[in-house]
Amino acid sequence: MNWNSKKVLVTGGASFIGSHLTEQLIEIGAKVRIADNFSSGEMSHVKSLDCEILEGDLLNPEFCNQATDDIDTVFHLAADHGGRGYIDAHPVECSTNMILDGQVFRYAHRNGAEKIIFASSGCVYPTSAQMDVSRETFLYEDMVKPPYEADDLYGWAKLMAELTLKAYYQQHELKTASCRYFTVYGPRCTENHAVMAMIARGYLKLEPFEVWGDGEQIRNWTYVDDIVSGTIAAAENINDGTSVNLGTMERIKVKDCANQVIKTLNPGTTIKLLTHKPTGPLNRVASNRLAKELLGWKPKTSFQVGLQKTIQWYINSKTTEQASDDLTRKLVGR
Ligand SMILES: NC(=O)c1ccc[n+]([C@@H]2O[C@H](COP(=O)([O-])OP(=O)(O)OC[C@H]3O[C@@H](n4cnc5c(N)ncnc54)[C@H](O)[C@@H]3O)[C@@H](O)[C@H]2O)c1
Repeated sequence: MNWNSKKVLVTGGASFIGSHLTEQLIEIGAKVRIADNFSSGEMSHVKSLDCEILEGDLLNPEFCNQATDDIDTVFHLAADHGGRGYIDAHPVECSTNMILDGQVFRYAHRNGAEKIIFASSGCVYPTSAQMDVSRETFLYEDMVKPPYEADDLYGWAKLMAELTLKAYYQQHELKTASCRYFTVYGPRCTENHAVMAMIARGYLKLEPFEVWGDGEQIRNWTYVDDIVSGTIAAAENINDGTSVNLGTMERIKVKDCANQVIKTLNPGTTIKLLTHKPTGPLNRVASNRLAKELLGWKPKTSFQVGLQKTIQWYINSKTTEQASDDLTRKLVGR
């Protein structure tokens, strides 16, 4: 697909993932506009990029209308979102995503957008299918079906947005796609996500090294560059509202991630398990079979390589004062 001069809107474009997506879209020739209220996005992520930056709240209809005006493709990433510590404690804030998503889709459609790509999440999957760590289970797209059982209000909002986009395709032939991101990490990710919290603790040489849960939780941490390439491939290949997993099939235990971080940053530290802290589902790993079939996509960065790149980025971009500043709040905030 030729992205040259395509007019593209990235909502939440100043975020961790949004800023990487924006960079790549500019690289392949798209004319990018970002709309962000900078509630968790950072101007420093995007200020040097060759794109239009609109600052405002997409919950405000006038701003949403302005942001979606004269756009071909919308990548909708804006969301009230954080790590597990945030979404567990802020269901009301997460519920506003239903309003935000509905409004962005409505104005994009009214203003004649050709296509909408949505940043969905592994949180749309039934939580009961993700609790047994003794089983080698993978989440397949068709497991999301009635009776639905999404993860918290954050997951329900993502699910509602996916269903809404399917309806836009069926009723109005508006081309749509949803990408279910799985535990994304990489440069610019914040400490409210588990990998970054562990890197911060290792960098600050905190003793003991605290880990939330019993450390047996399994995740398929997926490197941000792979998420970006998959999102663009979904924009190029899906029109009918299909939802597709973007995640690796590597199964990593939280305690193994902790041990790798400790080995790199502070060998010899002892781990203290905080079993009263929220962990989310215990066994969350995507199947990426459908992404291979539909998009020809597979992740390129192994966890081993991605983790070392992320650690290097963290060390190079933050002083220890910056890393320790307000760390306790950052672990559960956004
Ligand atoms: N990080 C992950 O592991 C992960 C996993 C699954 C899905 N996602 C989704 O990917 C997207 C990007 O997430 P992220 O982790 O990069 O960072 P993030 O959650 O910080 O990104 C959200 C962005 O939206 C902006 N925003 C929030 N409310 C807004 C509003 N009302 N108006 C305008 N802008 C607003 C924020 O300032 C921020 O830039 C989100 O939709 C998130 O739900 C992320």
